[in-house]
Amino acid sequence: MKLLIINGPNLNLLGLRQPEIYGSESMDDCLKRLRQRFPEIEIDYCQSNHEGVIIDLIHKNGMSEAGCDGIILNAGAYSHTSLAIADAIASAMVPVVEVHISNVASREPIRRVSMIGPVCHGVVAGFGLDSYRLAVEAFKEIVAR
Ligand code: DQA
Repeated sequence: MKLLIINGPNLNLLGLRQPEIYGSESMDDCLKRLRQRFPEIEIDYCQSNHEGVIIDLIHKNGMSEAGCDGIILNAGAYSHTSLAIADAIASAMVPVVEVHISNVASREPIRRVSMIGPVCHGVVAGFGLDSYRLAVEAFKEIVAR
């Protein structure tokens, strides 16, 4: 199985950015742990601060199973605003799981709204960087079906 994790805007700052909300671990550490824990799964990773680049990544990797078997997407603030990313997800042929590090349901009202949630296979939120591991666990079930 091959999964692609896409992180959106400001998530390049993980470990430095608002550690009281997002923790002090970097995404590199998180990826190292995921790859150690799931050696049977190929886990690719991309991060972009640009909406169009995220859309291009979904098109490139999600339009056929030749790209990957599933996408784990933390679209950051675009989760709450981007109809364009929602349209890209709706067009994808592989499942997309929405991930958030923080519990967006317990934060400001704008963060309780997800533009992308309705077109995603499911959502994992609020477990810190462990949200990514839980999404990989979910894919083990989704892809086996
Ligand atoms: C986030 C939550 C978003 O509201 C925020 O804009 C982010 C990170 C999270 O992982 O908790 O950038 O997606």
